[in-house]
Amino acid sequence: MTAPRRAKITAVGSYVPPKVVTNDDLAKIVDTSNEWILERTGIRERHVVEKGVAASDLAARAAEEALRVRGIDASEIDLIIVVTVTPDMFFPATACLVQNKIGAHKAWGFDLSAACSGFLYGVTVGTQFVVSGAHRKVLVVGADVMTSILNPEDRTTLVLFGDGAGAVLLEPAEEGEDVGILDFYHEVDGAGGESLYMPGGGSLNPSSHETVDRKMHFVHQKGPQVFKYAVRKMEELGRGMLERNNLTGEDIDTFISHQANLRIIDATAEKLGLDPGKVIKNIHKFGNTTAGTIPLAMCDAIAEGKLKKGDLVLFTAVGAGFTAGSVLARWAF
Ligand code: UT7
Repeated sequence: MTAPRRAKITAVGSYVPPKVVTNDDLAKIVDTSNEWILERTGIRERHVVEKGVAASDLAARAAEEALRVRGIDASEIDLIIVVTVTPDMFFPATACLVQNKIGAHKAWGFDLSAACSGFLYGVTVGTQFVVSGAHRKVLVVGADVMTSILNPEDRTTLVLFGDGAGAVLLEPAEEGEDVGILDFYHEVDGAGGESLYMPGGGSLNPSSHETVDRKMHFVHQKGPQVFKYAVRKMEELGRGMLERNNLTGEDIDTFISHQANLRIIDATAEKLGLDPGKVIKNIHKFGNTTAGTIPLAMCDAIAEGKLKKGDLVLFTAVGAGFTAGSVLARWAF
């Protein structure tokens, strides 16, 4: 088998649950306001699951949408990578549940955990299987039900997140075709672990009455620390990606970053010299859906005519870990 030179994204799909929670709805639960949330984050509303709906349900819907867009059957998929920090269960892997739900009979799969940078890590890992020639059809699905790990009494985290999923299909680029995943650069900085984490329920603090009483099964975040790291790293990784490919911000047709805070996105775009019209922002309708934000933004960008075949796309993300990543791609469809 000859290894292809490049992998390309050939389809995108997304799914958010129908129920919408507005900032005013949250202001009835915690001491907050639409003005504070909008001004500090850019979020107006978010979609949330009904009880009993899990990450695999959102992932399966997004994956099915990507397959529909590409016009292929699930039985053609070789590998499913599910990126999530809110798996249905610790095990089996959510990828196994998705494989079964969509009927991808010949696919193997696994989960990948890198929080808000996860989707870019997943695309990077999936790309390697295509570039090596091992697989021809790889699904990367980012899915999170963040509301399952939010403390309903903590206004500092409750207002930030939503539920949602998105999926891309990776396939080999044709010989001589100038599209696909061009480059990636990722980092982790484990010293930032306690800035954003869920301390309970793992092997360190197995679930118990005490861990639940101490609310260790919820997201804990030091918002300002994460904010500062995110602004610094998004720019640093974005700039590094441009420089190592001999590009400037003016060469970028579309900028899609993780959607955690409008102020982080705008600051990064400005520092990188990106045209504001090329910056994709949809945090106002979904909030931070963790692994879902980037494919959800891809879908909106396509729908708005801001992501077209041949466009040079810069992706950046920062998340818990700390994790950070950037990907450069020439859009393929
Ligand atoms: O996707 C993973 C990565 N996560 C992120 O990128 C999140 C990064 N961090 C952020 O986006 C911002 O830090 C937040 C949006 C979380 C917070 O915004 P901030 O401007 O950093 O606010 P702050 O935490 O410094 O809080 C300012 C004030 C505080 O009150 P005092 O101490 O000044 O009286 C908070 O208690 O705002 C208060 N506050 C709120 N007020 C109303 C915090 N949350 C809320 C709220 N409603 N929901």
